[in-house]
Amino acid sequence: MSVLSGKKVLLGITGGIAAYKTPLLVRALVKKGAEVKVVMTPSAPDFVTPLTLSTLSNNPVVSTFTAEGDSDHPAWNNHVELALWADLFLIAPATSNTLSSMAHARCNNLLLACYLSAQCPIFIAPAMDLDMYAHPANQANMEKLLSFGHSIFPAQEGFLASGLEGKGRMMEPEEIICGLEENLQAKAPLNGKQVLITAGPTYEAIDPVRFIGNHSSGKMGFALAEEAAALGARVVLVSGPTALSVEHPNIHLVPVTSAAQMHAAVFEHYAKMDVAIAAAAVADFRPSSPAEQKIKKQTGLPQIHLTETVDILAQMGHEKKSQFLLGFALETENELSNAKGKCARKNLDAIVLNSLNDSDAGFGGSQNKITYIKNDGSTVSFNLKPKTAVAKDIFTQILPAL
Ligand code: CTP
Repeated sequence: MSVLSGKKVLLGITGGIAAYKTPLLVRALVKKGAEVKVVMTPSAPDFVTPLTLSTLSNNPVVSTFTAEGDSDHPAWNNHVELALWADLFLIAPATSNTLSSMAHARCNNLLLACYLSAQCPIFIAPAMDLDMYAHPANQANMEKLLSFGHSIFPAQEGFLASGLEGKGRMMEPEEIICGLEENLQAKAPLNGKQVLITAGPTYEAIDPVRFIGNHSSGKMGFALAEEAAALGARVVLVSGPTALSVEHPNIHLVPVTSAAQMHAAVFEHYAKMDVAIAAAAVADFRPSSPAEQKIKKQTGLPQIHLTETVDILAQMGHEKKSQFLLGFALETENELSNAKGKCARKNLDAIVLNSLNDSDAGFGGSQNKITYIKNDGSTVSFNLKPKTAVAKDIFTQILPAL
């Protein structure tokens, strides 16, 4: 999955010949999973049709301050709403005229109004003839735009529409997409961080066909893994048996069955991790000596002797160096004090309390209601919500602590 997946991209197209390449840009962004809206300067539709762009982006294309439609009930294209909608604003191609207007806060079209209202990162792909591009006025404007914190995809060498050859071509759409991905990845809050997550149930064998297990679906751990990867981390997800699969390419799934296997897999990776989250519902007990053959009914009621499994999280707490360590607590009584006790006993930085007292929340389902408890005793409680949203809440709590 690309870092562009789920991102809201506003594409600003200005009136230059390189605009003919923008349908490819829109298509590539959509293929990466981005949602794309297009704003054009009034002259841009001379070079590429709004119909092509709206078809490819699946969204209306705007270029004027007032919306077309019922003349008795005039409406405006809300540039502020559009600008604030965007996670990033890419202006490609950016002509000399638009670069100059951006550098000097001129606002005589909808694209410029969006630019001046935008709060998101701005990316600019200039395109013009070589002498225009080299002109000190344009170079100075680009310097100024860089000083605002914007990113510029420099023009490339090659054949130009004027018939001349030199530096002025808009960067190719695929290279722009790579540049956007690199930029987003580098700015991602967990870029360069390694995150270990345990998920799902464990199965403890009674005999070759039977086991002691639990109802954990693994959804919370998998949602945390996807969120960590979306925030830029490399993730190792050690999971007991579930029906789930991972989507993000930066998640390395290590499937295990028993608590002992989970323990071994965790400690293969734990020492080099920056964050470790134990979301697995690890069995606390296992049959001490599983039968080698299927236990037969005729032999009467079996006596299954149990022994404790190793507490993986407690050992992670014991061996903790610089890792941020988060555990989960599933409680049915004295919830807060039991969870706080667990947090201290296992040497955690924080613990997520799942309540089993809420019928729609927890374990097998898709929703969860949590309280995030830091090791200083402070708590933040959240409403019942999908586990994907809970994963976001949890990382919003973790990030400031890293
Ligand atoms: N955990 C673990 N290894 C175990 C048992 C639990 O890593 N053998 C982790 C879980 O992944 C969870 C946390 O410990 O993050 C707490 O699990 P929980 O079942 O609520 O608590 P226990 O420590 O098992 O204690 P109790 O069952 O007495 O509440």
